[in-house]
Amino acid sequence: MTEKVLILDFGSQYTQLIARRIRELNVFSEIVPFNKVPQLDDSYKAVILSGSPFSVREERALRPDLAEIVGKRPVLGICYGAQYIADFYGGTVSRSLKREYGKANLGRIQRADGLFADIETGSQVWMSHGDTIEHLPEGFELLASTADVEIAAFGSLGDRFAAPVYCIQFHPEVYHSLDGKQLLENFVLKIAGCRGDWTPAHFIEQTVEELQQKIGDDRVLLGLSGGVDSSVAAMLLHRAIGDRLFCFFIDNGLLRKGEFEEVERSYEGMGLNVTAIDAKQEFYSALAGESDPEKKRKAIGRVFIEVFEREAKKLTNIKYLAQGTIYPDVIESVSVHGPSVTIKSHHNVGGLPEKMGLKIVEPLRNLFKDEVRRVGGELGMPAHLIGRHPFPGPGLAIRILGDITPEKVRLLQEADAIYIDKMREYGLYDQVWQAGTILLPVQSVGVMGDERTYEQAVALRAVTSTDGMTAEWSHLPYEFLAAVSSSIINNVKGINRVVYDISTKPPATIEWE
Ligand code: XMP
Repeated sequence: MTEKVLILDFGSQYTQLIARRIRELNVFSEIVPFNKVPQLDDSYKAVILSGSPFSVREERALRPDLAEIVGKRPVLGICYGAQYIADFYGGTVSRSLKREYGKANLGRIQRADGLFADIETGSQVWMSHGDTIEHLPEGFELLASTADVEIAAFGSLGDRFAAPVYCIQFHPEVYHSLDGKQLLENFVLKIAGCRGDWTPAHFIEQTVEELQQKIGDDRVLLGLSGGVDSSVAAMLLHRAIGDRLFCFFIDNGLLRKGEFEEVERSYEGMGLNVTAIDAKQEFYSALAGESDPEKKRKAIGRVFIEVFEREAKKLTNIKYLAQGTIYPDVIESVSVHGPSVTIKSHHNVGGLPEKMGLKIVEPLRNLFKDEVRRVGGELGMPAHLIGRHPFPGPGLAIRILGDITPEKVRLLQEADAIYIDKMREYGLYDQVWQAGTILLPVQSVGVMGDERTYEQAVALRAVTSTDGMTAEWSHLPYEFLAAVSSSIINNVKGINRVVYDISTKPPATIEWE
């Protein structure tokens, strides 16, 4: 049985980070909205309450019943989680008069074998809250203070509850809390007694077993995209059911230069049962004359489904459709600013399983991207596939602003290949989350030799990010940008200007469409 730490999400920007930090200790963690606590079966070893943008003093504060949790399992409340526990059990939380944001140091630590074991007095922590705990509830004791915050950590370790309750005002999950990892380790491994055996190898072994049980003798179909997620999903399924996994790899004519052939070769090398399908013309025809980004996405999704269905009909007895869905796609987020709006329709091929009457299998639905990569490594996947930047499903269609023609695709592929190759050559590829080239629908004047040119411009985009939800433009060295620019302008006929995109997300997005 996989041991789990349950994380109740109160909407903090750091909730996913808490989950990652726990998983780095080789303990599985699961995020659920604060008001959707599952039945705590034996697999749940501890519960963590996250921070929140709300204040417990607000009318609309999030107030679940803690009786279901506290006393049943060891509990750790972080920031809002700590304030809410204090408030719930009769303590006093008030607006903080001092600044409680940024770095602080812990003094007067209760140590021994508790939460602060092996953490020295003076340890740096990261504070980020507007409320402070003035009085502790009955049965709780002070565990640590900082210069500005008297009650920085407290807990109930005596008789009031049948399991220990720890509460901290600071954020152990962020790197600025220098002993944060030790603190979480103390909680998860020592206090909650987790084994810490959730490694990639363990995950593979267990998932393969589960897949074998679920699928039995049936056959599974999977669409490979060339990306990490679908490739790792395929490797896991292949290990579980061998050649009863059938993979399609559709060439939509919108991939990077030479990528289709290169990836197809890798798939063959990995022993996968792959049918490569050339559907370039169908995609180009469906996109002809279409400039609207959402309509382009829809057209690509539609053709993808058509091609997929047509090819699937050639196979018999398929019962499952496998997908490379990962954890960030399935975490139900706590809505802080009202119902979230769809900003872009990323899930372009939703509806396919229902349409084809297939059941779904998603072997990666509990993993974060970096965990998928580690599992891929453990499965022996080639490094160049594992480390690849994310690439959008609609591919270059949303990096060519305006309508798509095969000629524009070729032009962009040439420029993009120079950018990405140079990025590898300069050792920068692994430092950025994602990079790409955008073909702009503008022409500008230039000179080449004695001639005046009037050609297109491309924008280079490179961002650092942990999950694609927020992103910062990468501060790439000027020499590198200079080398890329001159190589593109000198070698790609039709492009005479290169610009670098210096927008962060939000308010911009990573892609331009
Ligand atoms: P944005 O542009 O929304 O992108 O900041 C965030 C991440 O999502 C990728 N992306 C897509 N992926 N279909 C996809 O499969 C899409 O339509 C799509 N649009 C954006 C983008 O490349 C980035 O990694």
